[in-house]
Amino acid sequence: MNATAQRQLQHESPRAEQPSELHPDLNRAHVRFINLGKTYDSQHGPVDALQNIDLAIQRGEVFGIIGRSGAGKSSLIRTINRLERPSSGRVLIDQVDISEFDEDHLVQLRRRIGMIFQHFNLMSAKTVWQNVELP
Ligand SMILES: Nc1ncnc2c1ncn2[C@@H]1O[C@H](COP(=O)(O)OP(=O)(O)OP(=O)(O)O)[C@@H](O)[C@H]1O
Ligand SMILES: [Mg+2]
Repeated sequence: MNATAQRQLQHESPRAEQPSELHPDLNRAHVRFINLGKTYDSQHGPVDALQNIDLAIQRGEVFGIIGRSGAGKSSLIRTINRLERPSSGRVLIDQVDISEFDEDHLVQLRRRIGMIFQHFNLMSAKTVWQNVELP
């Protein structure tokens, strides 16, 4: 995935080589990806799942991320609560860079973020309530 949110960045600084790093309005966003990159090491070599992702998502906004299978949607979303650690760039949540969060801070952060996993592994032998109860 290689994306620049043109809607958010249209008021951006004209200096293309430094798109949004210091833009105060964008960096006040609820969720902010700055030049985010994620490369996985696989058996077949490095996989560049995310490159130069620059997005600003405002509080209360309903924001969809769409793309073909393998485009990097899950990789991107999983950086919001650091289930994936970015290879480059930064993720700001309410203007706080979460890259240096220790385990305690990550636990606190994850308690504030709801996530429905793509492979959510419900137990068919249990009721809905028992599945909810389990964690
Ligand atoms: N743990 C991993 N190790 C190596 N490569 C990975 C890993 N996780 C994802 N990838 C690769 O990164 C790329 C992006 O994967 P990702 O799961 O983020 O895509 P996706 O858009 O969520 O796909 P889908 O629509 O199928 O869920 C793919 O090429 C995938 O094979
Ligand atoms: Mg996915």
